[in-house]
Amino acid sequence: MGNTAHMGAITALADLLHSENRPEATQTAQLLASLGPSALATPGQSCPFHAEMCALLAQSPLPAAQALLQGFAHIPWGTNPVSTGPAQPIFAVAELLGDSAPITALNLRMGLFYQTANAYYGLHDHPADETYTILAGSAHWTAGDTTTWKKPGDMIHHPSMLPHAFRTGRQGVLAMWRWSGDVSTQNYRMLDDPLVPLAS
Ligand SMILES: [Fe+2]
Repeated sequence: MGNTAHMGAITALADLLHSENRPEATQTAQLLASLGPSALATPGQSCPFHAEMCALLAQSPLPAAQALLQGFAHIPWGTNPVSTGPAQPIFAVAELLGDSAPITALNLRMGLFYQTANAYYGLHDHPADETYTILAGSAHWTAGDTTTWKKPGDMIHHPSMLPHAFRTGRQGVLAMWRWSGDVSTQNYRMLDDPLVPLAS
């Protein structure tokens, strides 16, 4: 039963990656589908946001969110490949595919991201090409010069070095992300953001 549950989640995430229609996304989907079932067979770590993430997934209309909920115990929440970020614990990251992730890949990264309700993750950029797919909840999403509400099923592409920021309202947001191109994390930068007070 446990195996079936996490394989269903992997298949659903791989299907979403395929639907992005970019070669790097398809390559990520193929790696996930071929290596995921064994790599993610062990239950993952728990996380302080476990209950609220599950509640958010349960409300999502997306079949992929329901599949992820069924396989949730296998997600390695808590690993964060990015060394900088807000001091407050407003988000959790699970890296599923990457150089030190359960599914090994040297030039691709992929995982899940959760940001709590009523939180702002300020402007940042990085060399990697990135796509987020919203699985549950919603966020006011800035990508370059555009800020719009994003909801389950929305896919947001950030070309290399495009500044982006996320604001949540009454509910959090849970999304899948993937990186390609320069996937190193040392040049990930938090940017000057007029909405973030300077540290005194
Ligand atoms: Fe990003």
